Amino acid sequence: MKAVEIKKDIYWVGALDWAVRDFHGYETPRGTTYNNYLIMDDEITLVDTVKHDFAEVMLKNIRAIVDPASIKHVIINHIENDHVTSLDAIMALTPKATIYISEKGKKGIERFYDISNWNVKVVKTGDVLKIGKRTLHFIETPMLHWPDSMVTYAKEDKLLFSQDAFGQHIASMARFDDEFIGDYSEAALRDAVVDYYANILMPFGAMIKSKITEIQNLGLEIDMIAPDHGVIWRKDPAKVFEIYMDMANSKAEDSALIVYDTMWGSTENMIVPIAEGIRAEGVCVKIIKLRATPMSVAIKEFWKARGTLVGSPTLNNIAYPSIAEFLTHIRGLRPKDRLVGAFGSYGWGGGAVKEIYEEYKRIGLELFEPGIQVLYRPSKADEESCFKFGQEFAKRLKEYHTKF
Ligand code: FEO
Repeated sequence: MKAVEIKKDIYWVGALDWAVRDFHGYETPRGTTYNNYLIMDDEITLVDTVKHDFAEVMLKNIRAIVDPASIKHVIINHIENDHVTSLDAIMALTPKATIYISEKGKKGIERFYDISNWNVKVVKTGDVLKIGKRTLHFIETPMLHWPDSMVTYAKEDKLLFSQDAFGQHIASMARFDDEFIGDYSEAALRDAVVDYYANILMPFGAMIKSKITEIQNLGLEIDMIAPDHGVIWRKDPAKVFEIYMDMANSKAEDSALIVYDTMWGSTENMIVPIAEGIRAEGVCVKIIKLRATPMSVAIKEFWKARGTLVGSPTLNNIAYPSIAEFLTHIRGLRPKDRLVGAFGSYGWGGGAVKEIYEEYKRIGLELFEPGIQVLYRPSKADEESCFKFGQEFAKRLKEYHTKF
């Protein structure tokens, strides 16, 4: 896709990655974008770069506007590989350019490159770079989402370059939120934001809240947010702040999720009576089978629902491997304010349900106990017990949800 002017003399010069499905283990069924931006002012400035594989695409987009050798400043808001691994391609063409980066960012790029011949200037919150008609303000945002992260605010344009924050893993022809809503829907865009937050930013909710509050307290006028992935927010940038604050406050739907796997169908046969019990209490329930669903989708749905039941067969006295993988992701993401329970089937001695509760305790989730397990195949009586289990879970979920 050719460069796109997003504000007068400010261009998106990034790349679309239609094919990526495995983004460091996080499934991206819609691909992604690597956004970066070129500011044509008296002193030409590049904000961020792209993943190494797309360096030539970025350079082609820049060349359509200006000779890359004219770039005077390169701002690196974040040093994860997808944004910094074509920095060398830029610096090879404009070796005298100055790189602006946070202190932790500088320590990071030293591990990628020999920077001894580059001009690298460490910046912190409050530092300003005047590039002609514009002034660029740097704001450190550690843990939104890496220790090195920072954002850059173009004051005269009321434009926030937000690096990963407020991004979405989407490859599409839409460069702006309103275009994406036109091509898909508002719900699809919100879903992409939630997906990104749930899979990447969930552990940092408290810091995100305080950082967004800090940015809001700075009183910056923002009418556009340009992240490093997905669409640029111009229709309603305040909306994405609001979505982030809701998520940082652990907001959830008053709904239930069942995540399960099955070995010979017994655990699967418990699902319908459990779900019927949940629905009998007027609570919506979604069902996800692991191994048939991208893990990132299971995680997003876990985050959206106030309560989740995990179902697992017992294999070799422990939970099924796919269930253990799911719970390992959840443990790392450190969710808060979610009610959880477990169910499953076994043939010999059991063990999966117990292990799932032990993991819940490690994570610090609100427990719905006891879990339920059936021997071999669920009998008629077991199905009735499953129905009651679902009903009781839904009752507790409704009560728990009122706390928030
Ligand atoms: Fe898009 Fe943290 O990298």
